Amino acid sequence: MSILILLVLSLVSFNSALTSTTSDSVYQTLLRCLNEYNPSHNASAIVFSKSNPSYTSVLRAYMRNARFRTSSTPKPAIIITPLEESHVSAAVICCQMVGFHLKVRGGGHDYEGLSYVSNEPFFILDMFNLRSVSIDIENESAWVQAGATLGELYYNIWKRSNVHGFSGGVCPTVGVAGHISGAGFGNLLRKYGVSSDLVVDAKIVDVDGKILDRKAMREDLFWAIRGGGAASFGVVLAYKVKLVLVPETVTVFKVERFLKDNATDIALKWQSIAPTTDKNLFMRMILQPSTLNNRTTLRVKIKALYLGDANSVVAMLGKEFPELKLTKEQCIEMRWIDSVLWWANLDVRTSPTKLLDREIGRTGFLKMKSDYVETPIPRDGLELLWKKIIELGHVGMSCQPYGGIMNEIKATDTAFPHRAGNLYKIQYAVNWDVPGDEDEWDEPRKEADMDYTSRANRLHKFMTQLVSKNPRRAYLSYRDMDIGTTKHWSYEEGKVYGKSYFNGNYERLVDVKTAVDPKNFFRNEQSVPPRSTK
Ligand SMILES: Cc1cc2nc3c(=O)[nH]c(=O)nc-3n(C[C@H](O)[C@H](O)[C@H](O)COP(=O)(O)OP(=O)(O)OC[C@H]3O[C@@H](n4cnc5c(N)ncnc54)[C@H](O)[C@@H]3O)c2cc1C
Ligand SMILES: *[C@@H]1O[C@H](CO)[C@@H](O)[C@H](O)[C@H]1NC(C)=O
Ligand SMILES: *[C@@H]1O[C@H](CO)[C@@H](O)[C@H](O)[C@H]1NC(C)=O
Ligand SMILES: *[C@@H]1O[C@H](CO)[C@@H](O)[C@H](O)[C@H]1NC(C)=O
Ligand SMILES: *[C@@H]1O[C@H](CO)[C@@H](O)[C@H](O)[C@H]1NC(C)=O
Repeated sequence: MSILILLVLSLVSFNSALTSTTSDSVYQTLLRCLNEYNPSHNASAIVFSKSNPSYTSVLRAYMRNARFRTSSTPKPAIIITPLEESHVSAAVICCQMVGFHLKVRGGGHDYEGLSYVSNEPFFILDMFNLRSVSIDIENESAWVQAGATLGELYYNIWKRSNVHGFSGGVCPTVGVAGHISGAGFGNLLRKYGVSSDLVVDAKIVDVDGKILDRKAMREDLFWAIRGGGAASFGVVLAYKVKLVLVPETVTVFKVERFLKDNATDIALKWQSIAPTTDKNLFMRMILQPSTLNNRTTLRVKIKALYLGDANSVVAMLGKEFPELKLTKEQCIEMRWIDSVLWWANLDVRTSPTKLLDREIGRTGFLKMKSDYVETPIPRDGLELLWKKIIELGHVGMSCQPYGGIMNEIKATDTAFPHRAGNLYKIQYAVNWDVPGDEDEWDEPRKEADMDYTSRANRLHKFMTQLVSKNPRRAYLSYRDMDIGTTKHWSYEEGKVYGKSYFNGNYERLVDVKTAVDPKNFFRNEQSVPPRSTK
């Protein structure tokens, strides 16, 4: 017995000695390659191997889902943190030379951790140092580097103008390139479209390490990185986006109703009003179980932004949506930048500099899924849904209205296909926490994971009859591995999730991929495959 243990122990130590020599030589080879490519800069300052004391803090800085920051999650052999664009080119070339898989990370908000987890031996190319934002008010545009956050973009726009903004997500720490390349939506979507609709130029590093702007790249590559997810095609260095006009004063409001206060009437009516009303009004609807007098009931919350004053929106909704009973007292008028804080659930009296904060405190566990709704859910459907939500508990549904300009942009204009015909998008959200050391992956954590993810799955399954079909649509940026993944990067495997995310645009994305990266260097578990993979 003890001999066996000894043998096992010595095998283990032999093995780890072997891996550490291998990884050491990988590190040395990579460093040599990077230094040859960029002789003026010593690459050792931007390359973190596992033996570097900063490795763990660099790795963990942008892991925004606690499900994938545990001791058992696969870790990158090396993290490369470019300081200049040429470092990105060098990383792309040298990574291919040493034969490692490369994951590109921006803000690290991928719901399935695809920017920092892989089952193949891999490196992370972490873009956080490349985050300048340069605003051109005269031209109403901005160049934003890939590692910037939405908060940094919004803040910098506001510093230069009180009547400009950008149409993007509501969470300030989301990374710009991941967000924009995967479409990116927020509360200006009905007036100005998704973030990728506002892209006018881009800089990308291709598989040969070449830096291409819009003029230098194929027009269909420029098409693909607006909604098709950049991770399948190259490394985005920066996007140039159009700014949008916002009034000096905007109005926000929140209305909550429980079942006993006609919440069902509100949800029913919301489905016909929210996607058809004035483009200046965005009303998100959130459905959640809630406890009232010790009993679980359902709560409908409407959270809204109106590009105009309170009197106008109260008068307008008084006519269109009297059931809401919106009063002026429920409305708050504020600057657009303060509405950004309000939507992020931050105190609107805090300084907008808060938007530059990249720290988010303790990272929670989360599982998200999505759906698109093309026909309103009838009253009896809603009533069954309420029962389901109450039965499952701890699940939320956030409904984002479309309509407005989304009906005017063609499904083929960019790679993002979900346009006219969609009334709204649903985000299923389950968030949880398990106290204790963030690194642990112990039994309580595993049990919680199974429990909460299964609630999301059961709700999604229940919704099958009420949402889009053939294909059942999904939103790429609400990454969900349950809708299909690829192991061999075949066209057929990719089609399963590709049709959901991209619908009719899947074929063209495969063509672009085949043209720009036929050997499939840029890949992940849900990437667009080339037509044939060797
Ligand atoms: C708390 C939270 C709130 C959110 N709110 C919204 C919202 O309001 N609206 C919305 O539309 N979405 C929202 N999302 C989803 C978010 O838009 C996506 O997860 C987005 O992909 C995140 O981008 P990132 O750079 O932060 O993530 P990352 O995890 O760094 O990257 C996401 C994907 O993009 C790739 N990628 C990143 N940078 C580059 C690059 N430079 N070149 C090529 N590929 C790259 C990664 O490899 C990965 O595949 C939210 C997510 C979270 C966690
Ligand atoms: C790069 O820097 C490291 C650490 O500071 C040093 O050990 C190494 O010799 C340098 N390499 C070159 C090529 O200058
Ligand atoms: C901004 O500049 C581009 C050319 O670089 C031009 O096509 C566009 O019309 C300009 N936009 C504005 C609002 O001035
Ligand atoms: C609910 O609807 C009924 C019937 O239309 C109405 O009388 C009542 O005031 C409503 N309650 C609330 C809280 O809106
Ligand atoms: C809720 O339940 C708790 C414990 O059972 C009880 O102490 C409390 O009075 C109840 N509250 C209401 C509003 O019924």
